[in-house]
Amino acid sequence: MKRLLVAATALAGLITALPAAAQFQKPEDAVKYRKAAFTVMAAHFGRVGAMAAGRVPFDAAAAAANAEIAASMAKLPWAGFTDGTSSGDTRAKPEIWTDRAKFDAAASKTQDEMAKLNVAAKSGNLDQIKAAVGATGQSCKACHDAYRKE
Ligand code: HEC
Repeated sequence: MKRLLVAATALAGLITALPAAAQFQKPEDAVKYRKAAFTVMAAHFGRVGAMAAGRVPFDAAAAAANAEIAASMAKLPWAGFTDGTSSGDTRAKPEIWTDRAKFDAAASKTQDEMAKLNVAAKSGNLDQIKAAVGATGQSCKACHDAYRKE
């Protein structure tokens, strides 16, 4: 009982030690977070893309598993675009913070396309997967052209 109480107290202490509102302690943490999320999303999207392009043999189960992860990851990078993170080790253009509504719309578009790719991948239909990979890829490119430095 006593040990349980100690553990519970320690846990409560740990939770209070976390920053209350801010999700990231430092601006660099937010930049690192969004880049990591993009990297993992792109890795899994790329595996489906390679099948769609015929560079690797089509494996329906692998396509579905990778699309599922990519669709989950597509929800994450955006939280890392916090205020005060337009400079430093980043390719994000400052326009993201002056054009926020358009940037957010572009982020939603990619999430929607990735969700459709996830549905297509579950269907196991390669033609549908190809179409969805193309649409998703277009949505990535549209945002990169506007909001990512070379
Ligand atoms: C709404 C805008 C937006 C969309 C949509 C978007 N990206 Fe990006 N992406 C960015 C920005 C901005 C950066 C630069 C991040 C930085 O350097 O801080 C970036 C960076 C990246 C990186 C490099 C990460 C690193 O380690 O530096 C990869 C890979 C990437 N994106 C892949 C994708 C893929 C794949 C998609 C589509 C499935 C996508 N992105 C959709 C804006 C977007």
